[in-house]
Amino acid sequence: MAMRSIRKARGCWSFIRALHKGPEAAHAPQKEAVKRVFSGIQPTGIPHLGNYLGAIETWVRLQEEHGSVLYSIVDLHSITVPQDPAVLRQSILDMTAVLLACGINPEKSILFQQSQVSEHTQLSWILTCLVRLPRLQHLHQWKAKTATQKHGGTAGLLTYPVLQAADILLYKSTHVPVGEDQVQHMELVQDLAQGFNKKYGEFFPVPKSILTSMKKVKSLRDPSAKMSKSDPDKLATVRITDSAEEIVRKFRKAVTDFTSEVTYEPARRPGVSNLVAIHAAVTRLPVEEALRRGAGMDTARYKLLVADAVIEKFAPIKREIEKLKMDKDLLKRLIL
Ligand code: AMP
Ligand code: TRP
Repeated sequence: MAMRSIRKARGCWSFIRALHKGPEAAHAPQKEAVKRVFSGIQPTGIPHLGNYLGAIETWVRLQEEHGSVLYSIVDLHSITVPQDPAVLRQSILDMTAVLLACGINPEKSILFQQSQVSEHTQLSWILTCLVRLPRLQHLHQWKAKTATQKHGGTAGLLTYPVLQAADILLYKSTHVPVGEDQVQHMELVQDLAQGFNKKYGEFFPVPKSILTSMKKVKSLRDPSAKMSKSDPDKLATVRITDSAEEIVRKFRKAVTDFTSEVTYEPARRPGVSNLVAIHAAVTRLPVEEALRRGAGMDTARYKLLVADAVIEKFAPIKREIEKLKMDKDLLKRLIL
């Protein structure tokens, strides 16, 4: 079902033919200003609180608000670092289960596996030819990911944001829900859309990022860093499928500071403020109300309150994931 819908959605690929005929042919203006939402997530590992609050929850909201939403499990992005093929195949199914359990409805959204649509890599090549090497070498993620590598990282790791641009532009997407860590990549996507339009004629809309109020959930062990799937400290990251005991343990060990009162001052007290922000986000309360509920508690007690709120939020999602994972055929039919 996903593939049938995606073939319809990728009709915009006709611009390639237009490109061959010269800039005038490519100049065909877009029919109407449609709002098209696109986002992607890598199938590596179970999503964490940051993925959920920074991206997936917004995906679900946008699905309810707009007719035309596309969400992709971006498996081609994940092979920029070594992957075991069997594990990756399983992870794609697991990610499908997670997204469905979080509320992505395949009747409303087009959920698909990136590598099934070969035009992503074709457009990526065209865009690669429009970007200068230093532009990619200056991106934070490239610098951070290669800083510790002996041989400097692969060309795929360097050009990965161009593939991200292709994912988005292929469908003439206009809005992209992402977390703050993707803002720099989105600036590149915007530059590439403008660069293409300038060279070949107006074709791509310049897509905008949609950031949630939880655009950056911090690590529980180092509140100056973002929560991340690949953090070597297992206590830093709360995954959607963690058991209640694991969630309590991780929050208990969360790094705060020497003041026991609960306040929200992100610059001065990043650790406790991260807890307040998580509490507010999972309960959908304003920060002031989260603070009111924590009033009179010390941070040790407040950590348990936040852990409980997270457990409550993830419990129905976890149950649904377990149910869906038993029906591998359904998952395969949906995504493969
Ligand atoms: P990834 O897991 O890297 O494929 O990221 C999937 C989505 O989650 C992207 O939109 C990211 O920007 C978002 N994201 C990842 N980590 C965080 C975080 N700590 N806080 C907020 N959003 C995040
Ligand atoms: N690069 C994104 C990440 O690492 C994932 C991604 C790939 C993406 N293609 C995308 C996000 C297109 C939004 C739109 O999180």
